[in-house]
Order: sequence, then structure tokens, then C-alpha cells
Amino acid sequence: MAQSITLLGLESSCDDTAAAVVRRGADGHAEVLSNIVVGQNDLHKAFGGVVPEIAARAHAEKIDLCVEQALAAADVPLTDIDAIAVTAGPGLIGGVMSGVMCAKGLSAATGKPLIGVNHLAGHALTPRLTGELNYPYLMLLVSGGHCQFLIARGPNDFSRIGGTIDDAPGEAFDKTARLLGLAQPGGPAVQAEAEQGDSKRFKFPRPMLDRAGCDMSFSGLKTAVLRARNETMQKNTIRRQDVRDLCAGFQAAVVDVLIEKTRRAMTLYLDENPAKPALAVAGGVAANTAIRAGLESVTNELDVQFTAPPLALCTDNAAMIAYAGLELFEAGRRNGMDLSARPRWPLDTSSAPMLGSGKKGAKA
Ligand code: KG4
Ligand code: ZN
Repeated sequence: MAQSITLLGLESSCDDTAAAVVRRGADGHAEVLSNIVVGQNDLHKAFGGVVPEIAARAHAEKIDLCVEQALAAADVPLTDIDAIAVTAGPGLIGGVMSGVMCAKGLSAATGKPLIGVNHLAGHALTPRLTGELNYPYLMLLVSGGHCQFLIARGPNDFSRIGGTIDDAPGEAFDKTARLLGLAQPGGPAVQAEAEQGDSKRFKFPRPMLDRAGCDMSFSGLKTAVLRARNETMQKNTIRRQDVRDLCAGFQAAVVDVLIEKTRRAMTLYLDENPAKPALAVAGGVAANTAIRAGLESVTNELDVQFTAPPLALCTDNAAMIAYAGLELFEAGRRNGMDLSARPRWPLDTSSAPMLGSGKKGAKA
């Protein structure tokens, strides 16, 4: 009979310090036993964005505590852990190093195997942790630092078929929130305002829909929001309803672009994988209810299975790292003490790098 496997996961690549315990039972089902996330919003609030040095110091201060809390909440002693998984990139290098050094220390002290996990693989595999989803599947990864369509064939086997050529949608949400005086992270704040707004009042562009393929661009949208805001302010002081309408117009443009590009990515994917097609979405922006609803309607229309993790597992967390580590562990991955922290680490090394630089540094 198969044995259960329990992994400890650590995440510290941006502005959340996190540790979690995930177990695959003898019946083959994976379960999150604990999931501790300590955010840093208060530390970065005054700066309007994540300050890498402040983030790195906060990770170094908090990561041990997160590990202790994750083990206690799961009621699993360190001795019962089978392996230690850690985000080894891509991300802000100081933060990634804090996690990697902590994981190496735990591995050296206990003799447990160490597994370096790509943060993006963590997001991309989360739908398999939370739902029934077999390989291969088409993955839309949308977060604060990334936006790409991937064909996932295994825990270490991804092909990128498109992505943003500049900003990630999360960045666009965050910048829009900043322009309109809303709280960070901007996604939830813009979504809440958009729900009360008129999406037709301001006409925002749908970038790159006139171009074939499934590459995207989001940097022009924030400039359009800036212009519309300034024009509104010239006529009047900006009122709450203006903010709501600007948010609604902006969000509708992001939704339209993501939905149409997903339709195209799915068509490309279906050419090669017509049997049991599935679309999964993950990453912080996948928490957006309008985006989820739009994706669901495209998949209904195309008769494709749709999987989206629960909101708490869409944004950065360590359960996704523990789970990706678990799949890699089962596939035989073991890293040594030479595991290095990588600021840049594309999931698909055969595709040309995407342009630009995001909130997590150079785009992977
Ligand atoms: O995956 P994540 O936690 O970190 C990265 O790896 O980037 O994603 C964070 C991003 C932020 O830009 C945040 O504004 C965005 O996800 N986000 C949302 C929503 N919730 C979080 N964007 C749109 N709508 C939301 N409800
Ligand atoms: Zn992330």
C-alpha cells in the first residue's frame, strides 16, 4: 500500500512570509494541514510599493516563526516531515535567500531532503492541489509579477504559448489603485469600487486584441486611467462615483483582454490536445471575481473543464510550494546545499524571455 508523504513548504519571494504543511495520504489525495501567511502591507504602505530591502529583513525576522506555527497548526513535528520545499525563485533576491537559507538550515539539522521550487510552478500546480485536474492542462497564470499561458504537462514540464510583453495585470490593478488613492494591494480595492461603478462611462483600450496570438500588454491601460482621471479632475474635484466608474471601466478592459486571449490560447491548445481539455487559472489576480466569471463563461462556451483554486490559495502562500515540492519529490527531485536563490527563473526555458521588469524584478 502507498505511504503518506508530508512536506513542509516555505515561501518568501515577494511580500508574504509563509510556511505550510501539505500531506498526500495513502489514498492519493493531497490535503493542506496548515497554511500560515504573514503579510508585510503595513511595512511598505508609506512607499506605495514593495521595498526589496525592507521585505528581505522582514522575511528573515519572520520565517522561523512561520515554520514553527505551521508545524504546530498541522500538529506535525519536524521529525515527521518527509522533505522541505522552498521557493528558490523567481522573486526579490533578498527575500528568496531568506527562505532558501532557512530551508537549508532545517535540512542540514534534520537530514531531511531539500527541494527547490519555482514560485510560478507553485501557482501553476495549485489547481491540482485543490481540485481534480490531470495533466496536460492549459494554465493562465495571472499575478502581480506575471501573466502567461502555459501548457502544463508535469511538475517540471511547461511550455509557454503567450504572455504579457510589459506589465502584469496585478501591477496594472496596483498602479490604478495608486492613481485613484485606493489601498494596496490594489486588486481587491479596485474590484470593490468597480462593483459599484458604470463600466461604460470611460472608454478604455483593449490592447493587442487586434494582433494575432495570445500575447498581451497592460502598461497602456494605466496611462489611459491616468488621462481619464486628469480630464475628470479638470472639470471637477474627483468624486467617489468617478473613482468607481474609472475602476469599473479599467477592470472591464482587463477582463475583455484576458477572456479574448484565453479563447485564442485555448484554440491553440485544443489543436494539440483535443482530449478532455481543461483550463486552470491561478495567481493573485485569479482572485478577481469578474475575471473568474469571464473565464468560466469561455470554458462553458468551448465545453472545457474549468478549475480555479479558492481565493486564499490564489495569492502567495506556502501550501502551493509544499504541494509543488511534493510532486517534484515524487518525481525524484532532491537538491543539495548548493541550491541557489534565483531572481529570474522561467518555467519554460525554451521560449524567448518576455520583455520588461515587474514588481518582483526582471520578468521570468
Ligand atoms: O500571486 P500574488 O499574491 O503575488 C505575486 O506573485 O505577484 O499576486 C498579487 C497580485 C497583486 O498585484 C494584487 O493586487 C492582485 O494580485 N490581486 C487582485 C485581486 N486580489 C489580488 N487583482 C485583481 N482582483 C483581485 N480581487
Ligand atoms: Zn505569486
